Amino acid sequence: MNEKQKRAIAREKLSLSEFSNHSKINAAFERDQNEVPTMGAAPAIRDGIPETEAVKALFNRIAPVYDELNDRLSLGLHHVWKQMTVSWCQPFPGAIALDICCGSGDLARLLAKQVGASGQVIGLDFARSQLDWAQKTTTPTPSTAPITWIEGDATALPFDDSQFDSITMGYGLRNVPDIAISLQEISRVLKPGAKAAILDFHRPSWSIMQALQRTYLDQLVVPAAHQLGVEAEYAYIWPSLQRFPTGQQQVELALNIGFYSAVHYEIAGGMMGVLVLQTPPSSIC
Ligand SMILES: C[S@@+](CC[C@H](N)C(=O)[O-])C[C@H]1O[C@@H](n2cnc3c(N)ncnc32)[C@H](O)[C@@H]1O
Repeated sequence: MNEKQKRAIAREKLSLSEFSNHSKINAAFERDQNEVPTMGAAPAIRDGIPETEAVKALFNRIAPVYDELNDRLSLGLHHVWKQMTVSWCQPFPGAIALDICCGSGDLARLLAKQVGASGQVIGLDFARSQLDWAQKTTTPTPSTAPITWIEGDATALPFDDSQFDSITMGYGLRNVPDIAISLQEISRVLKPGAKAAILDFHRPSWSIMQALQRTYLDQLVVPAAHQLGVEAEYAYIWPSLQRFPTGQQQVELALNIGFYSAVHYEIAGGMMGVLVLQTPPSSIC
């Protein structure tokens, strides 16, 4: 086979895969076309601050391909990081747990296993399509807590004070317009002495790891997202990471807000991090 024939076959394969991926997006939603945000939404950062409506539209749009991309791009490792995150916020049997920015629900489902049938879990997100997807792909079992999926904003949580024993947030804090307000909300709804664990990308301090991260995002993440028709949306990760505080800055922010303790753990060679927070115990509240 000559080069020209090989290129023709490759083009054919690409257009077939694009067709099947776009069909997958449309079939997955089974909803009115008018409700689906437009294709190729622009990155959602203005003057270093994520724009709420643009971020919401972005996550509504990528809901059907989000899990598949996460699996492919992290080689499944995001499940390990999420399990570590859940362990760090110490959910116990019977606990009431909240997963903020739950997306398709991975962390909420892990919490539901940990708190068991006597516990309760709420998954909160402002993107309706993510919640629909989470609900559709969650199978309740007799040994896991029921999960309630709630549409809400991470910067104005629709809960009374001191409600939750454990809180998780995965890849959400980087997307909120005001990180301090979101942390204040977490502090407000946690019970005294309770813990939150917040997983997100992190900018590594070593220059070799920084270069590796940039290469990973530019050469792997964005092209893989392109194959699924969501390239512009994944190009958003890099600029959102540039305005995101480092682990140490997150710790300082959390302590200023009034958390009793705040520790940031770097994982994946510093390319990811988990911020673990605890509210003051009741005796010193
Ligand atoms: C990158 S996804 C992470 C999903 C999931 N936590 C995970 O780790 O797979 C970020 C999620 O945060 C949600 N989100 C972003 N800003 C939000 C806000 N202000 N309030 C509620 N949800 C928000 C998005 O809709 C999206 O589902």
